[in-house]
Amino acid sequence: MRAYAPYSKVTVGAGALLDDGTTVVGSNVENASYGLTLCAECSLVSDLVRHGGGRLVALSVVAGDGEPLTPCGRCRQLLFEHGGGALLVDAGEGREPLRLDVLLPGAFGPEDLGTRRNA
Ligand code: THU
Repeated sequence: MRAYAPYSKVTVGAGALLDDGTTVVGSNVENASYGLTLCAECSLVSDLVRHGGGRLVALSVVAGDGEPLTPCGRCRQLLFEHGGGALLVDAGEGREPLRLDVLLPGAFGPEDLGTRRNA
């Protein structure tokens, strides 16, 4: 997996299993502006959509040192859109995976939009 992380030097790879048994992947892509950096999970969601869509069932995000990395807040929201609260997130060797609704309690999701529109 190739990442572009010349600024932080923290390379990150993400892989996920979909409900149809296929997989998608992503890696972080940094930018000289720093703030425009794309996380590995962001790239994974792009891969998912390019793949034709589907539901994320299980996810692992790993840094270049081989250890799991907990998705950042923005990525939790991006992942919620495509996996919901039941998405299992790898917590590392010997640890139970964490459900996304534990990492992002009370999430705002697509189904909230329909009920909150004016008229
Ligand atoms: N990073 C990710 O790819 N995913 C996360 O959930 C947290 C952080 C990346 C962004 C940046 O390129 C590097 O890790 C250091 O923050």
